[in-house]
Amino acid sequence: MTGRVLAGPGATVRVSSPGKVNLFLGVGDRREDGYHDLVTVFHAVDLADEVALQPADRLSVRTHGVTEVVPEDGDNLAGAAITLLAQRLGREPAVAVDITKRIPVAGGMAGGSADAAAALVGCAALWGQDVPRAQLAGWAAELGSDVPFALSGGTALGTGRGERLSPVLSRAELSWVLAPAGGGGLSTPAVYTELDRLRAAGDVPRAGEVEPMLAALATGDLAGIAAEMANDLQAAAFSLRPELRRTLRAGLDAGALGGIVSGSGPTIALLCADPDHAARVATDLAGSGTVRTVRTAAGPAPGARVLGGRG
Ligand code: C5P
Repeated sequence: MTGRVLAGPGATVRVSSPGKVNLFLGVGDRREDGYHDLVTVFHAVDLADEVALQPADRLSVRTHGVTEVVPEDGDNLAGAAITLLAQRLGREPAVAVDITKRIPVAGGMAGGSADAAAALVGCAALWGQDVPRAQLAGWAAELGSDVPFALSGGTALGTGRGERLSPVLSRAELSWVLAPAGGGGLSTPAVYTELDRLRAAGDVPRAGEVEPMLAALATGDLAGIAAEMANDLQAAAFSLRPELRRTLRAGLDAGALGGIVSGSGPTIALLCADPDHAARVATDLAGSGTVRTVRTAAGPAPGARVLGGRG
């Protein structure tokens, strides 16, 4: 259940919501509705956005902490989430939202989805509504394929277009170096379209079966997890951004156990043995001249959750 924080007039609700890496992302062929069936292992990391919500005269969404252009107000996915929640609960979407971005914008880490999940959880709390998790997850799926996972967090198997989740037994604490590529984000639809084009033009290898990854997670076998990381969207992201190959190569040369494009990219996610190892790989990679910024992170992290009530 959510919404245990009952906010008085003028109160602020703050929500933390995680970014994600897909440890495994198998993409099927394009469906009639334009989406692709997926078999994916989502893994939430502690690189999280913070979303503050307070009552206001009208809906507004502002973002902080990034230089990229991010949609604001109703065009922001968090704004769309509040509009949807207000409709379903029969209320006005009169909320001011301030998002402190830490998840790379359009980076393949589902930052927009994290903000939407935070808006659902935070608004329910602000309005004192105890909305069952399953109900919230259904509304989250209407907003985007990755929004239900941002609500749940942890490590989960995603099927359908990614919105159908089932739990994954994982004994692994994972340390990451995340390298958001310079040159701006990649559009998710554009990356899927590029994959369709590559597949139509010739044979593109497919990610294979997810079971070996699930087995490696169950036993906490880091080398196994590194070996089984796979992403069908990686070829398409490389095709649109050839320089990503160099970043991935530099990360592996710096000693990462494994590396992958995160989701539709262009963030490169490098798996390391522990936080100290991640710090060393991050320093090496930062000096390689192939990236603009480098961050470390750890997972699994919890899903969108209220941090504090009264402001
Ligand atoms: O669900 P979401 O709005 O995040 O999806 C954005 C776009 O990504 C879709 O319009 C579609 O082009 C592509 N997509 C896809 N298959 C998926 C998820 C997303 O083709 N499973």
